[in-house]
Amino acid sequence: MPYTEENNQKYQEDLKKKIAQLKKEKNAVILVHNYQRPEVQDIADIQGDSLALATAAVKVEAKIIVLCGVHFMAEIAKILNPQKQVLLPVKEAGCPASDMITAKELEAKRKEIPDAACVCYVNSSAVTKAGSDVCCTSANAIKVVRSIPEKKILFVPDKNLGLYVKSQVKDKQVITWRGVCPTHVRVSQEEIIEAKKKYPGAEFIAHPECEQKVLKEAAFIGGTGGMLKYVKSSKTKKFIIGTEQGLIYRLKKENPDKEFYSPGSHFICADMKLTTLGWVAHCLELGVYEIEVAEDIRVKAKKSLDRMLEITYGK
Ligand code: 13P
Repeated sequence: MPYTEENNQKYQEDLKKKIAQLKKEKNAVILVHNYQRPEVQDIADIQGDSLALATAAVKVEAKIIVLCGVHFMAEIAKILNPQKQVLLPVKEAGCPASDMITAKELEAKRKEIPDAACVCYVNSSAVTKAGSDVCCTSANAIKVVRSIPEKKILFVPDKNLGLYVKSQVKDKQVITWRGVCPTHVRVSQEEIIEAKKKYPGAEFIAHPECEQKVLKEAAFIGGTGGMLKYVKSSKTKKFIIGTEQGLIYRLKKENPDKEFYSPGSHFICADMKLTTLGWVAHCLELGVYEIEVAEDIRVKAKKSLDRMLEITYGK
């Protein structure tokens, strides 16, 4: 079959049908993060930010969870749901920020400040979660840090989210680690200033993984779920989106009367974009790539996640 736009369209439609059929046959549910490719967002049973995906993972009834996102997201689904088979369509889809602290480094840092509670961002490995007291996402980081009795908090691994929390929770001593999201730190303050000039009247909203200087330019700071809510309830018609470009597809779908701009052509997470319809079909067909977490680590990591869910939703 020659490559034409029409044939490609048909191929994508056939893949969607195949995925729907396999999902039914295997009793699977598809969870999709807001940064995924548009066609992957379109096949979601549940779509959301990291918190929504973690919350959904506890409730789903299907036998198999297919997590279209990055490794730590699928790992969370497995930690919370050990009896289910959790599949990540692309084995290599990771999160560089989550690998920016090792178990040894965390242990050494905690020994250095034994009176500090440790809060870890969900963008972290199961081992980091296991070595922390409580997890948080960008949607609840401030609430989680405020709710902790300890005055001193070690926040790992994302420095920028940690610094943002520190700026909002004045009565705590927040000690940050050196991890960063390579996608969010790629955007500079100068680019935001330029984008504001280029799109007059557009409001800049940003993810807290951006650098402090960039956040200074923002009218609203929040995770992808927070941004979706903010845009929906705002009277403003134009927005410059300070996060991975994948979110713009959903923003546009939910707000067809509004306009969205990305502050640069490079606001793309390569890992998030690895997942395609072809890989999702492959994953369901062969039952790959299955996420496994060692039981001792899983139990400890689950405590950090459960504590986060309790703080967020109450018991
Ligand atoms: P959200 O939880 O805001 O969707 O962010 C996830 C993420 O990985 C940001 O880089």
